[in-house]
Formats: sequence, C-alpha cells, structure tokens
Amino acid sequence: MKSPHASIYQISPYVAGNVVPADFVFRHNLASNENPFGASPAVHNAITAYVKSSTHTYPDGNAIKLRHKISETFNVPFQNIVCGCGSEELLHLLARTYLSPADEVLIPRYGFSVYNIAVLSVSAVPVFIEREGEHKTLSVSSILSAVTPKTRMIYLDHPGNPIGNFLDYEALTTLIQTLPSSIMIVLDAAYAEYMNVSESYTAGHEFIEIHPNVVVARSFSKAYGLAGIRLGWMHAADTVIDAVNRIRAPFNTSTLAQHAGISALNDLEFVDKTVAHTHEWRQKLNMVLHTSNISFIPCCTNFTLVCFPDRATEFYHSLGRNGIIVRPMTMYKLTDYLRISVGTEEAMTALFEQIHVFKK
Ligand SMILES: Cc1ncc(COP(=O)(O)O)c(C=O)c1O
Repeated sequence: MKSPHASIYQISPYVAGNVVPADFVFRHNLASNENPFGASPAVHNAITAYVKSSTHTYPDGNAIKLRHKISETFNVPFQNIVCGCGSEELLHLLARTYLSPADEVLIPRYGFSVYNIAVLSVSAVPVFIEREGEHKTLSVSSILSAVTPKTRMIYLDHPGNPIGNFLDYEALTTLIQTLPSSIMIVLDAAYAEYMNVSESYTAGHEFIEIHPNVVVARSFSKAYGLAGIRLGWMHAADTVIDAVNRIRAPFNTSTLAQHAGISALNDLEFVDKTVAHTHEWRQKLNMVLHTSNISFIPCCTNFTLVCFPDRATEFYHSLGRNGIIVRPMTMYKLTDYLRISVGTEEAMTALFEQIHVFKK
C-alpha cells in the first residue's frame, strides 16, 4: 500500500481537552472553552421535535433556512454564506480549495492548532509569525515581514486561542490594505460573540465586499453552546463560496444541526446572558490571579491563559485530582501555561479555592 504523503507525519494528532489522566475527577470541565450553561432551551426543543419526526431523510444540502437566519441576524448576504461541520471544517475546506504543495501559509505562533493540521494535510508549508512581548501580541509588521512570493494564505485567529489577543480595527485595516490581494486572509472569529466589550474589535465582515480575499469563519460552538452539534459558517466573496461549495460534502451539516442553529439564533437573549456571565467571571478570575501575583494574558474571550512558571504541570494535576479539568498547553510548547475556560459560578468558586491553596 502507498504511504500517506510525507507532511501527514509532521502533524501531531489533536489532543482534546477531555483526554485526561485516570486519577482525575470530572466535576468541572474548564478545558475546552465550552458554554457552561449548555445551549438555549429552544435548541433542546427543536432537537427533540426533530428526533421525533424525520431522521430518515437527508438534510437540505444548502442549509437554506439556516443561511437565511444567519443572513438576517448578522446582516451578511445570504449567497455569501456557507455552513460547515464546525468552523473547523471550513478552515480545512479553504486549505483544500486554495493551497497547493509548497505554498506558504502564515500562522501566528501559538495559533489554533487546526491551522497547522489543515496546511500540512495538503502538503503546504506553515510559516509561523512570531508574537512579541509579555502578552505575546501580534503586529502587522511581523506578519508583513513573513510574506514571500510563495505566500498564499494567512490564518488569523481573531481573537486568538489560546492567546486571546487580536489585531484591532486599525491594524486589521492596515494589514488587509497592505497584503497583496493574491493572499487569502482567513479571519477565524470563533469567539467574536465575546468581543462586544472591545470597541476596537471587528470580526471583519465589512471588508469582504471590497477585499474579496478576506474570509470570516464563525462558530456555533462557543457562545451558542452547540459544540457537540458541530456547526459553523463562513462569509466570503461569491468566487470563494462557489469554489468551496464544489468540494464540500453535499450534506456537511445535518438537519439536526440546521434546526439547532436556527433555534440558537432565535434566542439571542441566551447568548447575551452567557456572554455577560463570561465577562463577569473572567474578570473575577483575573482579580484572583492579580491578587495572587499570578500573571496571565488579558483577553475578552471565554478563557484566560495563565502563567505558572515551572509549576503548570503540578497545578494541572492538582486541579484535576480536585475535580477541575483545565487545558495544559504542551501541544503549543507553552509549558508554563494553563488555559482556563470560564465556567459556572460553582466551578469558578472551586477554582478560586484551589488557586488560594496552591499559592500558600
Ligand atoms: C480559534 C478557534 N477557531 C475555531 C475553532 C473551531 O470551532 P468549531 O467547533 O466551530 O469547529 C475553535 C475551537 O476551539 C477555536 O478555538
């Protein structure tokens, strides 16, 4: 049998947040940036009604009703939307559609690990952009200095995961106006719903009409609580949508996912409550860290990246044995850091107690 192409073996298999040592107690999962409240009750009703009726028929391959709902909610043209099995699928589809072997793709250092996997899976070459300073910020100049004649694409986690910072409106505008239009700019806005507290943030939809090389990917996994349903969407120029639609699986979003997505968008009050809770408890976490002299990377998302020099592994195990699962950052080679998602009040209170014990 022929071997897989060589770049496949440069990929380290993705390690999910719920893969933990046997002695861990699964009480509070703060490892996967999920919505601690689940999804809106409207979603559960829609799913139950669907399961009772038509599981035997194929989905609408064009997700027409869902795309209309997304269009109306986000003020994005219906024909410029494609839905996917999580935004992750869309990130992969862009790589498969646009990249050839040896093309270079810019990825911010510590960027979401799926970018590297998508790039290597088509034998293209990831080129990492270094971040600077204590908060590991990304600058337009460092991005531009990494561009070569072989650069075809940039994946920008916007805001980042696990580094929660982002290019503000001014910097993003400069980047989009300066990069050659032959380079596709993929703005991965999986956490955009949490960015309402930042005036200088834009997910970037407004750039697409004038700059058809810009694509914005969005997720239903975070603020909408649909991570298990697998649903994301992408806004892009006509030509990009047309190309991606040619290669995506015809039924890449299930009927269940489409119903769930519409119902989630029918209950934006649930999203608002989730986001408000997240900001409140992330700030409380930051305060506990600050008063305990523990440094962290400030952000607006539903997680915080926290630095425990030389003691991250010890604290990870200690938390795990006490019922709190957080995410080690070894796959990003950030061995001094743990990424902690914002959970329920109960989970956060338990976490604060453990931080106090750890600091004693
Ligand atoms: C930055 C970023 N982009 C994309 C995704 C993928 O989201 P989805 O569940 O929609 O595939 C994640 C998930 O953790 C993420 O952190």
